[in-house]
Amino acid sequence: MTNLPPLLADYPLQSLNTFGIAARARQFMQIEQLEQLQAIQADTALSSLPRLVLGGGSNLVLSDQVDALVLHMCIKGKQIVGEDAGHVYVQAAAGENWHEFVLWTLRQGLGGLENLSLIPGTVGAAPIQNIGAYGLEIKDVFHSLTAFDFTTGQVLEMDRAACRFAYRDSIFKQDYKDRMVILAVRFALPKHWQARLAYADVANYLSQHAITHPGPADISAAVIAIRQAKLPDPAVTGNAGSFFKNPVVRAAERERLLAAYPKLVSYPQDNGDYKLAAGWLIDQCGWKGRHLGRAAVYEKQALVLVNLGGASGADVRALAQAVQADVYARFAVQLEVEPVFV
Ligand code: EPU
Repeated sequence: MTNLPPLLADYPLQSLNTFGIAARARQFMQIEQLEQLQAIQADTALSSLPRLVLGGGSNLVLSDQVDALVLHMCIKGKQIVGEDAGHVYVQAAAGENWHEFVLWTLRQGLGGLENLSLIPGTVGAAPIQNIGAYGLEIKDVFHSLTAFDFTTGQVLEMDRAACRFAYRDSIFKQDYKDRMVILAVRFALPKHWQARLAYADVANYLSQHAITHPGPADISAAVIAIRQAKLPDPAVTGNAGSFFKNPVVRAAERERLLAAYPKLVSYPQDNGDYKLAAGWLIDQCGWKGRHLGRAAVYEKQALVLVNLGGASGADVRALAQAVQADVYARFAVQLEVEPVFV
């Protein structure tokens, strides 16, 4: 008996990518267990096809025709797996919805993930770009993950160092691109929880609501409210969150920009570099609310590109390139795209 899942041809992907691009997959399989991946890997014809591992589809810009075998990760399950003096360890399977998982940890009385509330996508995709928001990245609470290696057919455990996390980056976007499939992720949640309030928006929200001693649920509620006010709901308006990374520049470069643009928004990094607010740069170029074809720069947050309805992958690419060109012409800063183009 084979473990291969049904192979579907010319499969519609519009409801499986948050940009809402009406793409179609040449071939498509739904993955609910490890044995199915092992069966695909053991099948010479299937394992030689180009592959796209799809989670929540929230960090992707698809071409209209995806010429690959799309593996839709739907492995489910979440549990507390252990504890020691300092931490409670929780695990979730790759196909779990990230935000539902965060809410579940909070219901278990476990803090630690609340600053990452309402981020679209799945648990399995979260380590790939080291998701981050409001002063926390998953690397800060990450313990380890289990992955399937398509090259060797082995299942392996990877700790934090092995994942080589960086700002919106990890080994899964670099050396292990297209090689590993993340199966499950474990987090070390602190028993002695402390609020992370370094981000001004969160602190302001709590003081406006007269919350002086916030717990994890208060911070989650604050983050949800802030995100809902600033970011488009992908269920209503297609988007992939921040479309560009905030560029990191040397101190001298930031001085040069600051001299010309005293209102430049920048944040010091541990190594003396500065992160610039790409949204501010784009905003200054007058792009906020403007569109090209059916793709637009979101009217409330210039870092987000949106689908006005009917946008193709090519529309989104053209808009992204126009924004990059204008920011470069004005500031001599190169914006790097954040989502993956397929
Ligand atoms: N700004 C403008 N105009 C704009 C947008 C932003 O002037 O249209 C300026 C504002 O001064 C604001 C500053 O830029 O204070 C920074 O904006 P914001 O606080 O909204 O954060 P961000 O830098 O735009 C980053 C992450 C978000 C994350 C927030 C909160 C990246 C690429 N983006 O956005 O992540 O939610 O900080 O931590 O690092 C995502 O990755 O999809 C994402 C939404």
